[in-house]
Amino acid sequence: MKNYIKADEWNIIEEGFDPHLNKISESLFSIGNGRIGQRANFEEAYTGETLQGNYVAGVYYPDKTRVGWWKNGYPEYFAKVLNATNWIGIDIDIDGEKLDLFKCEVLEFKRVLNMKEGTLSRTFTARLSSGKVVKVDAIRFCSIADDELAALHYSISALNFEGIITVTSFIDGDIKNQDANYDEKFWNEVAQHQENDTDYLTLQTKKTEFDVCTASRTTVLFNGVAQSSQAVLGDKYLARTTVIPVKQGETIHIYKIVTNLSSLNYDKSDLLRLAKVKIETASTKGFDELLKDHAAAWAAKWEESDIIVEGDIAAQQAIRFNIFQLNQTYTGKDARLNIGPKGFTGEKYGGSTYWDTEAYCIPFYLSTAPEEVAKNLLVYRYKHLDKAIENAEKLGFKNGAALYPMVTMNGEECHNEWEITFEEIHRNGAIAFAIFNYIRYTGDENYLAQYGLEVLIGIARFWKQRVNWSEDKQKYVMLGVTGPNEYENNINNNWYTNKLAAWCLKYTIEAADMVKRLDPEKYKTIQKKTKLVEAKEFGDWKTVADQMYYPYHEKEGVFLQQDGFMDKEQILVKDLPAEERPLNQKWSWDRILRSGFIKQADVLQGMYFFEDEYDLETLRKNFSFYESRTVHESSLSPCVHSILAAKLSDEEKAYEFYLRTARLDLDDYNNDTEDGLHITSMAGTWMSIVEGFAGMRVCNGQLCFNPFLPKAWDSFSFSIGFRGVQLKVKISSKQIWIINNSVQTLEISIFNRLHTVLPGEKAITYHEQLV
Ligand code: BGC
Repeated sequence: MKNYIKADEWNIIEEGFDPHLNKISESLFSIGNGRIGQRANFEEAYTGETLQGNYVAGVYYPDKTRVGWWKNGYPEYFAKVLNATNWIGIDIDIDGEKLDLFKCEVLEFKRVLNMKEGTLSRTFTARLSSGKVVKVDAIRFCSIADDELAALHYSISALNFEGIITVTSFIDGDIKNQDANYDEKFWNEVAQHQENDTDYLTLQTKKTEFDVCTASRTTVLFNGVAQSSQAVLGDKYLARTTVIPVKQGETIHIYKIVTNLSSLNYDKSDLLRLAKVKIETASTKGFDELLKDHAAAWAAKWEESDIIVEGDIAAQQAIRFNIFQLNQTYTGKDARLNIGPKGFTGEKYGGSTYWDTEAYCIPFYLSTAPEEVAKNLLVYRYKHLDKAIENAEKLGFKNGAALYPMVTMNGEECHNEWEITFEEIHRNGAIAFAIFNYIRYTGDENYLAQYGLEVLIGIARFWKQRVNWSEDKQKYVMLGVTGPNEYENNINNNWYTNKLAAWCLKYTIEAADMVKRLDPEKYKTIQKKTKLVEAKEFGDWKTVADQMYYPYHEKEGVFLQQDGFMDKEQILVKDLPAEERPLNQKWSWDRILRSGFIKQADVLQGMYFFEDEYDLETLRKNFSFYESRTVHESSLSPCVHSILAAKLSDEEKAYEFYLRTARLDLDDYNNDTEDGLHITSMAGTWMSIVEGFAGMRVCNGQLCFNPFLPKAWDSFSFSIGFRGVQLKVKISSKQIWIINNSVQTLEISIFNRLHTVLPGEKAITYHEQLV
């Protein structure tokens, strides 16, 4: 665990430069706008440890699968969002010596991620080996007001010398993914062009043939006068060099305005023309105006999604960091995009879509963004339905059964470890649950007729075919699966998967009834399109759901994670020596699989989804049994535990679990922040506060709260949107305030008692409430 980030409510601050921490900071200080994003690499050269990272959402390469033992059904490739053209480059040469912080004496250094305005800035002074001291101030952003724009301002001052500073501003597309399976480069150059101080570089991804045109206009100002430059062209590289004699105390200002357009959105033949138009318009506005637009757009985002914690700066910083990163990663403007577990902050997980989106991210976007944003995440899966059906067919399923991929970019499976690719099928259930969750929250029942029902039918058909009848048990069973707990593979009757499958089957029948009622014509169209044999299929689904087998342990009084779980040695995490953790780094895989330690919420994930079905006593027993065996080696784990602990009124535990996700990356708990941030689990942090501490749920179409205040805090408040109403909720130890910023009156339940909240403010004192 590291502890070098300074506490601050709105900023992430690093002071002093330690090259050993550089890759961690590159992840932490990442910036993005949902379409483009990048790690916090330096503009000038750096020869120390670094992971250069620039990404364009949706632009990927199918990297040929690399496995030891090929199994039929494996996908041919793993899709990767590619490391793309580096547009920030500015080489600085001072009388023949390159500015490189790895080689200089760094006298002062400060890096700041301003989360309020969405900027990354850096200031430092450094002494070169010649003894010359320079000061640099740099600030940049990926505009959230216009997601195809980015800009930077870099200034360098000669502090103790007179000499020649040569500035080479460049864009470089000769980039490699560190995680390339066969050490290949993934881009071909299409065109280079230079015009009016602007460099244009168009690259094309191999195989997928996405074109991306990066245009960069550089302006170098010295004593207020624009300097002329010399063009340099190289392989996938365009630059312009400016040579400036400076005196002590003088400063050179470099501005770069950049656009990134891709063939995902435009005709390839039009990219250059559009880039020229865009760069002209942006340059006319200029850096300061672009920054103003960007900051205003961030202010609007914060208005919808901020959480304010009073009395605990570290907690305040952490939750804002999580919200900031989520908003940078996905804006919901484009239904073809999704949320990679590392967002734009690293290469791990290939930038692809996992079940994380449906199980963890949907609630955050439902409450903090317009309805379309979460809807687009669901539509993304609707658009992949045909591929999910194909995917199931490849594995031998029939009749329109759909198996959504474990990992995907375009709907095709690209995961290739059999015990996950073929067996971690619970992801199908999370996709169905997200549809339910969306409708429960928004009340948008039409979604089912529009998109949802077709997806549900495909999923229901899959479950029906995936179970088999056990003569012995006289029940339907599900063999050879991997549950969310990936420290068990190829098990039988994972309680969570069986539960989810049965629920999906029933929910699909309900959903069909609802569409039949609301839109009979559309229902007929869906019936025809999916070739639904209603009586037979519904009958089968109901039978399977009613007769599903659920492992249970009488003596412990708990749902059993899987058949045979109690045959394992029953040791608890508290008895595990600290030096043996994390297990995935200290133990062999064989030992992990044989042990009873649990990677992440599994039975408890099911109890979280279907909480209304279980009384508190059942939850308590299962929580205490499973939590004591869980090592939380997936960042997705603690949030579910935090929410359930809150429900069980175990406030201390709820807070303890919250702390484990909130600063996971900021403090580098798992020693892996340098690979990128844990974006999807950041949504879990938000859930811990809103669903955990505030106890927010939607019950019968109304918001309900069962709040408590963590002891370390004076109060906390959050913004949420609910069915067209924008609310602020503030919770202190004595009161809950609801500010209804709409003209509608709302009925809200607090501690199970209904309150009418008129437009304006409403404060409810807990003890009045309890009377
Ligand atoms: C977790 C999965 C998760 C994946 C991506 C794994 O470590 O076990 O549940 O989908 O990470 O976040």
